[in-house]
Amino acid sequence: MQLKPDNEAIRETIRLSATEDGFRQAARLLGQGLTVAIPTETVYGLAGDARQAQAVARIYAAKGRPAHNPLIVHVADTDAARALAVFTPEAEAVAAAFWPGPLTLVLPLAPNAGLAPAVTAGGDSVALRVPAHPVARAILTAFGGPLAAPSANPSGRISPTSAAHVLAPLGGLTGRIAAVVDGGPCSVGVESTILGWDRNGSPVILRPGGIPAQALAQVLGRPVAMRDLPDDTAPVAPGMMSSHYAPDMPLRLNADAPRRGETFIGFGDIAGDLNLSPSGDLAQAAAMLFDTLRRADAMGHPIAVAPIPTTGIGAAINDRLTRAAAPR
Ligand code: TXA
Ligand code: MG
Repeated sequence: MQLKPDNEAIRETIRLSATEDGFRQAARLLGQGLTVAIPTETVYGLAGDARQAQAVARIYAAKGRPAHNPLIVHVADTDAARALAVFTPEAEAVAAAFWPGPLTLVLPLAPNAGLAPAVTAGGDSVALRVPAHPVARAILTAFGGPLAAPSANPSGRISPTSAAHVLAPLGGLTGRIAAVVDGGPCSVGVESTILGWDRNGSPVILRPGGIPAQALAQVLGRPVAMRDLPDDTAPVAPGMMSSHYAPDMPLRLNADAPRRGETFIGFGDIAGDLNLSPSGDLAQAAAMLFDTLRRADAMGHPIAVAPIPTTGIGAAINDRLTRAAAPR
């Protein structure tokens, strides 16, 4: 298959296997400045060479992502991250505790980092993550450079936790990206926790995610503030818009029972038509969240969701549900 340098020229999206051969092919496409969706332990990411302006432009184009919303850069290890950003002792401490894993750090961009300016949306900070997924790690190693990778979904829509989600005819990226590497379902299921530091040097969670706030506070030895849901007019971290992860159908939260005609997503003892975790396990609910939202959406009726506890990873689940239910 001949790939032309425009997204428009990509007619089909190649499905690559999670094998040495698949990793080599993914690395080759990425080297050509093309976009490849790859599995991570959180969600599938749409990867491109973070140093090539054209590759980064293709990521924004494929997602329909606003240019002011910067991308997360994925690297193989903390050494590679240190080449791109200025680390403080606190950044070192959380990196040592949680990398590889579902934690993203927003740090000052290093001089001569060599990233395409669009990756940081022209800003002077960079979001960095060392993923734990063996397939993401193998592709980073085969590629040998930093990969910009937002979640592999059209901007504002439900994030993908399987290759099938990435390739879905509706709400997917088929025909808009060169390839997807199929690494099976994602084990965490919600995006990484994004941690930054405010002007006073205090740690702030910019997005709740796979690493609970309490775990970060424990390593840092001080409380970590949770940034409030910003509204659309004042995005603190652009992309943390109030409406995001949106299904086509309207969504009602904290429902004890369905109303007539609703598809009901249960949790624990609240059974529902679908259930995020019959045993009431929050890790399982996180892993099931986006797939369950997609399946409920496909039924074509308004959706109601049972209450989900806000402890641990439940904070991230409730954050995603709140945005998915927000007025568009
Ligand atoms: O788990 C994840 O983080 C996944 C996987 C693929 O790694 N990626 C992901 O990327 O969720 P994305 O683009 O969907 O979300 C990235 C978030 C956005 O809200 C963006 O605004 C924020 O990170 N972000 C990126 N760079 C930033 C920066 N320099 N300062 C503040 N926020 C930043
Ligand atoms: Mg996203």
